[in-house]
Amino acid sequence: MAAAAIGTLPFASVPCRNHHQLRHGASAFNAQQFSASSSHWHSANLSKSGVPRRLHAAKRVIVAKAGAGRYKVAILGAAGGVGQMLSLLVKMSPLVSALHLYDIANVEGVAADISHCNTPAEVAGFTGKDELAGSLAGADVVVIAAGVPRKPGMTRDDLFGINAGIVMELVEAVADHAPGALVHIISNPVNSTVPVAAEALKQKGAYDARKVFGVTTLDVVRANAFVAARKGLPLADVDVPVVGGHSGTTILPLLSKARPKAPFTDEEVEELTARIQNAGTEVVEAKAGAGSATLSMAYAAARFVEASLRGLDGDGDVYECAYVQSQVVPELPFFASRVKLGRDGVEEVVGSELRGISEYEARALEALKPELKASIDKGVAYVQQQQQQEAALN
Ligand code: NAD
Ligand code: LMR
Repeated sequence: MAAAAIGTLPFASVPCRNHHQLRHGASAFNAQQFSASSSHWHSANLSKSGVPRRLHAAKRVIVAKAGAGRYKVAILGAAGGVGQMLSLLVKMSPLVSALHLYDIANVEGVAADISHCNTPAEVAGFTGKDELAGSLAGADVVVIAAGVPRKPGMTRDDLFGINAGIVMELVEAVADHAPGALVHIISNPVNSTVPVAAEALKQKGAYDARKVFGVTTLDVVRANAFVAARKGLPLADVDVPVVGGHSGTTILPLLSKARPKAPFTDEEVEELTARIQNAGTEVVEAKAGAGSATLSMAYAAARFVEASLRGLDGDGDVYECAYVQSQVVPELPFFASRVKLGRDGVEEVVGSELRGISEYEARALEALKPELKASIDKGVAYVQQQQQQEAALN
């Protein structure tokens, strides 16, 4: 085996081609593993500055080494289908020094189990509301995967009644106990739970728009996988931005902006777009009542955590799509776009990607606006109503 160096987890659009395994007795990965990270979207072979990827990867090893094991990640809903697998994947990151696992039940066993992996992150379990504050103290990144998943026949919006309250409660605790943390929201319906979180943080005077994310990485992961398969492209090279929201037709893959440039027939565009938009439902139906995507979601969320940590760590070249507050579509205060991740979260929203899209995409963008706007308004109104009810009681 080649000499191992400390790197970051190899979350590319594919399993890396040069697939060295974790070195026994150490938590190190080989630098070459992540040389094709799709977070680096400028070109398959050259970085923005024109530095060949392999050299760039080597530089990132040094950066990662300097910051190795510096970050505390808290996962809320850690005993769930997404939460457990995500916790395991985050435990594998050499950038993480502490991993706090919180749930209302059954989390101690998960924490004990994962803590036996011989990677550096110290794992601790926190059960129930009394331990929520402790789970959040000092967190750099808080991932919210708490809440109920869909069953066949349900829309994500059907989860709003339960999950909005869960997200609001958890985010209020983040405001109190981890006010500077990046908040990654997985709980559905993301189109509304992110506005819920933003509004709840605003009410607490703790909102920083750069630090609140709806996790839409799974849409990108799926788009990359489906396009690579359809066009016979090497997975490592494929990068499809997905914008809009995270539900049905609000999920808008920009195939016209896919890399490498590939010609798509009208039929292919329609089929691929529909498949990407319905992929969550495909899993819900296949699981036949046992929940929604958990394993691919955990993979996608871990990729987003790793990208965020690299941004916090000063890697200047980290891009992912996420659902964030933005002005790229003026009538939609929240919109999924490619964002640059930095030391304070979102450093830049890459709105330019919406320029020069195909006519098909432009029509789809127009069509998604009313639904996405309604979902955003619903989230904001929910928090305001809760606050009014609370004020009326006091
Ligand atoms: P799950 O039922 O397996 O797990 C949910 C966990 O949340 C459970 O362990 C439960 O105890 C916990 N929980 C409930 N209320 C809580 C609270 N107040 N505080 C802390 N923990 C709490 O569900 P899952 O399959 O892991 O899915 C979780 C959520 O993620 C769902 O809302 C699902 O729709 C969503 N999801 C989103 C995406 C995405 O792309 N954004 C993908 C997959 C799943
Ligand atoms: C997904 O896209 O898989 C998730 O949003 C879960 C779901 O309900 O489809």
